[in-house]
Amino acid sequence: MPIARDVSLQPFNTFAVAASANYFAAITSSEDLRTVLDDAAVAGQPHLILGGGSNILFTRDFDGLVLKNEIHGIQVVKEDNAHAWVRAGAGEDWDAFVRWTLKHRFYGLENLALIPGAVGASPVQNIGAYGVEVGELLEQVDTVEMASGEPRRFHVSECELGYRTSIFKQPPRDRYFITSVTFRLRKRARLVTTYTDVARAIAEEATDALTAEKLSDIIRRIRRGKLPDPAELGNAGSFFKNPVISVARLEPLATEHPGMPHFLQPDGRIKIAAGWLIEQCGWKGKRTGSCGVYPQQALVLVNYSGAAGSEILALSRTIAHSVKARFGIDLEPEPRIL
Ligand code: FAD
Ligand code: EPU
Repeated sequence: MPIARDVSLQPFNTFAVAASANYFAAITSSEDLRTVLDDAAVAGQPHLILGGGSNILFTRDFDGLVLKNEIHGIQVVKEDNAHAWVRAGAGEDWDAFVRWTLKHRFYGLENLALIPGAVGASPVQNIGAYGVEVGELLEQVDTVEMASGEPRRFHVSECELGYRTSIFKQPPRDRYFITSVTFRLRKRARLVTTYTDVARAIAEEATDALTAEKLSDIIRRIRRGKLPDPAELGNAGSFFKNPVISVARLEPLATEHPGMPHFLQPDGRIKIAAGWLIEQCGWKGKRTGSCGVYPQQALVLVNYSGAAGSEILALSRTIAHSVKARFGIDLEPEPRIL
């Protein structure tokens, strides 16, 4: 497996910011990975595991080895009357995989259609959209531990999944290279249609026989209306997580701001819509230099053309300061900042 020198990372991040890596290798199998890690030329180099680069902001060059996951393959590993266990190589494109599952009538991932990136990153931040988190369909995650080169399998119960978090996000980062992910999918669809936008779209469509395939199409349409396509406008989706606060903190805020959207979580805490907070601070649609806040979704920062990662980071910090000053709430970035 060749290791390339001084490679531009611009095509490998959806913000499309300029950055480069000293060393770069595309990994197509676990054996490939071991060969690269044993190569004396990169011994001791810091490393970064990269999928589709849709949840990363490069603010500088990466002084080390980038390992781009290109492990492919999809297989049904087990079936019973109710479920199919499907294993996908970590380098498979996420949305293509969702389409594959629907084509084979394996259900559960339909609400997660059109999320950019690769399968391998899906457990890293426990991707979620429109009322579903991937952890609900996860069975196990196969990895190679970078330090030892040994395989290590994580059952879903060991992944420490939460809202946009997992064991794979905890330090030290890049400890485990995810090689494949196994999902437990349903043979009979159980449609999740409670999310406000989804319920509204279904009502408008007045469709009598909603299927998982139709629901997935509806979700694709909602997403296209709200979120910029990285092929046209650089972005990494939501730049901040939605803050989760206690009921005690909510009460004075809700009294002062009666229109503030907030959502009760299963653990009794309250999720606040960061997009609303940012919009209230006047940021929606604002542009500073080459970057700005997306006009249709205030939670999304965009690179209009040629913005440096450091400019986008500076804008995000200014936004977070203004939200803190007005609402007393801290915003935490969702993408990994390097
Ligand atoms: P990358 O950006 O390449 O990597 C993300 C992190 O995972 C990094 O820390 C990286 O080191 C690590 N990683 C990647 N692959 C591996 C691996 N094989 N082994 C170990 N670590 C690995 N996210 C949501 O949850 N819900 C959404 O609705 C959503 N919508 C989005 C919409 C847009 C337009 C965009 C641009 C992004 C959106 N995202 C969303 C964020 C992003 O798509 C997801 O986080 C996605 O899972 C990232 O996949 P990736 O392959 O691009 O990961
Ligand atoms: N809102 C505003 N103004 C805005 C944006 C949103 O007032 O500019 C309000 C909306 O009116 C709504 C609430 O905020 O009441 C929630 O908005 P939306 O449904 O658009 O979802 P979100 O909370 O902004 C989250 C995820 C998205 C995911 C959608 C759908 C996070 C950080 N973001 O966004 O995930 O697609 O819900 O489930 O949780 C991502 O992680 O990159 C991402 C795009």
